[in-house]
Order: sequence, then structure tokens, then C-alpha cells
Amino acid sequence: THTPRVFSGIQPSGGLTLGNYLGAIKRFVEMQDSGIETLYCMVDLHAITVWQDPEALRHNTRELAAGYIAAGLDPAKSMLFNQSQVPEHAQLGWVFNCVARMGWMQRMTQWKDKAGKNQQNASLGLFAYPSLMAADILIYHATHVPVGEDQKQHIELTRDIAIKFNNDYGVDFFPVTEPVIEGVATRIMSLRDGSKKMSKSDPSDMSRINMTDDADAIATKIRKARTDPDALPSELDGLEDRPEARNLVNIYAALSGSDAATVLREVGGKQFSEFKPMLADLAVDHMAPISTRMAELMDAPDEIDRILTDGADRARTIAAPILKQTYDIIGM
Ligand code: ADP
Ligand code: NA
Repeated sequence: THTPRVFSGIQPSGGLTLGNYLGAIKRFVEMQDSGIETLYCMVDLHAITVWQDPEALRHNTRELAAGYIAAGLDPAKSMLFNQSQVPEHAQLGWVFNCVARMGWMQRMTQWKDKAGKNQQNASLGLFAYPSLMAADILIYHATHVPVGEDQKQHIELTRDIAIKFNNDYGVDFFPVTEPVIEGVATRIMSLRDGSKKMSKSDPSDMSRINMTDDADAIATKIRKARTDPDALPSELDGLEDRPEARNLVNIYAALSGSDAATVLREVGGKQFSEFKPMLADLAVDHMAPISTRMAELMDAPDEIDRILTDGADRARTIAAPILKQTYDIIGM
């Protein structure tokens, strides 16, 4: 009964990676042209759940916007905006803090990972993060959220919050949102350790490919990527227990808009000494123009700010009535 609508967000916490691009942004662009309304956000209120230097946050927010646009998001087709410029996110987030249960939040693996051993010293915002994320999605009655695999548990929590709200108030108001986790790039791994996710939030991992990297940096990082000594298999089974090889094949498949089985039919039997230069060429062809365009956009920060203000104005025309109806349901 809910009109299809797509929402997703990325934290402006600096250093967008190839994982963010292939797992999220590239898919945002594909969904933009599906005929469904699309909203894409820089979730700055999420970023500050851990300390951010104010100047860096301002820079990283614009850089993320530049990354979105350079990758092909069109501000005329998608609403691009900052979370903090649409106050209804935080307002509905508070309501959801009163719907979500402590036990639900304590089970979140991202909370456990990010808070580490010293939970007492983590911010209250870090704990409440998934409740605000539910608000980001549900303030637009979004039905579909393209994300990487690491966000699956948060979308399940979003569904639980929608269901509990609807039950508590005896309404059918919030949609039960579907995560859209598909394709070969739902979890791009680190190039130095195939058991870890490539993440912008891991500053110690210098192997990661950033969206701002130039052609030389991209090629060098692929050349240095950890591999095993065997040739590539020609079938998927042959990638089992070979996480580094599987990751590079997945990256190749995602960049070429293909799938791993098709790639293996083409490159099966090749050594990494032959495959890595092929992958480097493909990655440079695809990514270097995006980083060049990002740099050009960053030379006009006022233009970026104007696009984001316009996006926020349009987003508020959806968010404000939904907040008003929510308050009305609650008795406020
Ligand atoms: P990060 O985890 O890099 O700090 P965010 O938490 O802001 O990034 O996530 C932004 C989006 O990018 C989410 O949809 C997330 O699932 C996706 N994403 C992050 N890292 C990867 C990865 N290595 N592979 C695929 N998708 C990823
Ligand atoms: Na993440």
C-alpha cells in the first residue's frame, strides 16, 4: 500500500572507499534511473556519534556530496542533502528512542564493534545510532534501502521499530522497509586482509582504495594487494577458502557490471601477475574520472552547498507532513 521510495545515506566521516562506491553509491545511481523517487543523504548526525573535527566534518560533507555527484547522482533526479538540514530526522529519532528497547540496541554488532571494550565511555548517540537510522528511513516512508551487508542488522531493527510503532498505536502507518543488498559488491574486503571489510573507518588500513585516489595510487594499491600463489579457477567453487582471490574477482565483476562466474569464464587459468594489471586498468578507467570530477566539484563549494540546500528543501516537503501525522497518532 506504500508507494515505492528509495532512501540511503553515508556518513561524512572522511575517506570514501571503493567499498562505499561499489557497495552503495554505484547502486544508488542505478536506482536513480528506475523511475522510483530516490533520496540520498550525508548522515552528519551519525558521523558525530564519534568525535569529528568541525572543519574536517564540513570538508568531508562536501566531499561526500562531490562523490555522489561525480559518480552520477543527478540532483535534479535524486534529492541530495545533509541529514542535519532536515530536522525531522532528529525529531522522529527521539520518538523511535521511545519505541526501541534497550535489549534490541545491545544486540547490534556495529555497536559492539565500535564501542569496543569500553562501552561506558562510548557516546549515548553511538548506542542510539540504529534508532536514528530507522528515523532517516521512515521519515520518508521509504520502502527500499540499498546498503552493503554490514547494514543488514540495522535495517532489520528499522523493520522492528516500524512494526512495534504500528502495533503500539493500532495503525498501519510506517512501511516495513526492505533492504536491497544485492550484486557482487555487498561486502568488499580489505586488500591486505581478506577477512576484514574495506572501511573508511579503519585509519590503519593504508591498502584501501579511496574515491579520491588518482590513477597511479589505484594501480599501485591493486599491484600490492595480497593474493595467493595459485592461478585463478574457471569456476566459482575454486574461490572457496580463497578470500583475497574472491575479493579481487568480485571487484572486477562489480566494476565491469558483470558477475563473478562470468568473470571467471574469461580469466580462469590466469596468474595474478596477469590478472592484476587487467584489474588495475579496469579500476583506473572506471574510478580515475570520478576522482578528477570530485576534485573539480570541490573547487566550487558554494555550488555544492546550494545543491544540498535545495535537496533539503525538497526532502522536507515529504518529511514534515509525515512527522506531523506521527505526532498526531501519538497524541501530540
Ligand atoms: P564505512 O563503513 O566505510 O564507514 P558507512 O558506515 O558510512 O561507511 O556506510 C556507507 C555505505 O557503504 C553503507 O551502505 C555500507 O553498507 C556501505 N559499505 C561500507 N563499506 C563497504 C564495503 N567494504 N563493501 C560494500 N559496501 C560497503
Ligand atoms: Na558501515
